[in-house]
Amino acid sequence: MRDAGDPPDQAAAALRRGELILLPTETVYGLGADAADPRAVAAIFEAKGRPRFNPLIAHVSDAAAAEAIGLFDAAARSLAQAFWPGPMTLVVPVRDRTRVCDLARAGLDSVAVRVPGHAQARAVLSMFGGPVVAPSANRSGRPSPTTFADAVEETGFAVSAAVDGGPCAVGLESTVVSVLEGRVALLRPGAVTRAEIEAVVGPLDGSGDGRRSPGRLAVHYAPDAPVRIEATQPRPGEILLGFGPGVGDPRWSLSPSGDLREAAANLFRLFREADRTKPAGIAVAPIPSSGLGEAINDRLRRAAGFVG
Ligand code: TXA
Ligand code: MG
Repeated sequence: MRDAGDPPDQAAAALRRGELILLPTETVYGLGADAADPRAVAAIFEAKGRPRFNPLIAHVSDAAAAEAIGLFDAAARSLAQAFWPGPMTLVVPVRDRTRVCDLARAGLDSVAVRVPGHAQARAVLSMFGGPVVAPSANRSGRPSPTTFADAVEETGFAVSAAVDGGPCAVGLESTVVSVLEGRVALLRPGAVTRAEIEAVVGPLDGSGDGRRSPGRLAVHYAPDAPVRIEATQPRPGEILLGFGPGVGDPRWSLSPSGDLREAAANLFRLFREADRTKPAGIAVAPIPSSGLGEAINDRLRRAAGFVG
């Protein structure tokens, strides 16, 4: 097990050799590879045990680099301007099919792109110079890693460089928004909220919510212990992850003060810590559904096995 991280230049060099890296971002840790190299991309699918129909996000250093690989209309540009660098991914028609290879896009005519805000992610991307595909660094179906140690534990065996960017400030994956054929739709709720997106582009297209994101179909984000949501009391052997004052043991609280940002940042780490105690189950207190609560409840429902 590695305990010290590698500097960004070593990660960029590994990418150039077609090898995998652990890439810290503000959302979760990613398992990165050169997006143009099908062999490197294949190694990501293999390390994660990820089905090949589930496309990856290409990370780039700025909006100009994003426009080199995808086609941005006025709405996509205004979203990029409002939220990049930051925890938002845009799915747009693909412009250059080689810079993000077919396997990375799962053969789709669209491409998912994001400009992360994390300083070390940006250092790696600018040193490498091309798009880096990076799914969350967990093995498929498990909670995303939000600390360096958790990322190393999940997929450290597959990488030749691992950058330690500290604990992820956001703790939930990026919001995925598609801008296709003049329609803007929310494919995956995340750190940037629905209301924040609608403030920029107006009402979202509700007809396709969640349907065009192939990765959204499976049970996901799940710890080993069964998850029970909307719980007010723990059952025998369960750990209760509380929210707000006086709910459960403060040691296991997502946010003792009832703060959604804090709860998002703690969720996946507490899933993992709870799992290590081998509980009969993990119960989670009700979380309000407004704002960031939409993304938290989305992950909780999927961890509990409710799809859709
Ligand atoms: O915060 C994040 O987004 C993290 C960090 C590492 O950047 N990455 C991440 O990647 O969560 P991943 O692979 O775990 O999730 C990518 C999501 C999947 O649900 C996938 O199906 C969707 O984006 N996606 C990627 N390309 C797409 C496309 N062309 N059309 C629709 N959905 C797409
Ligand atoms: Mg993931």
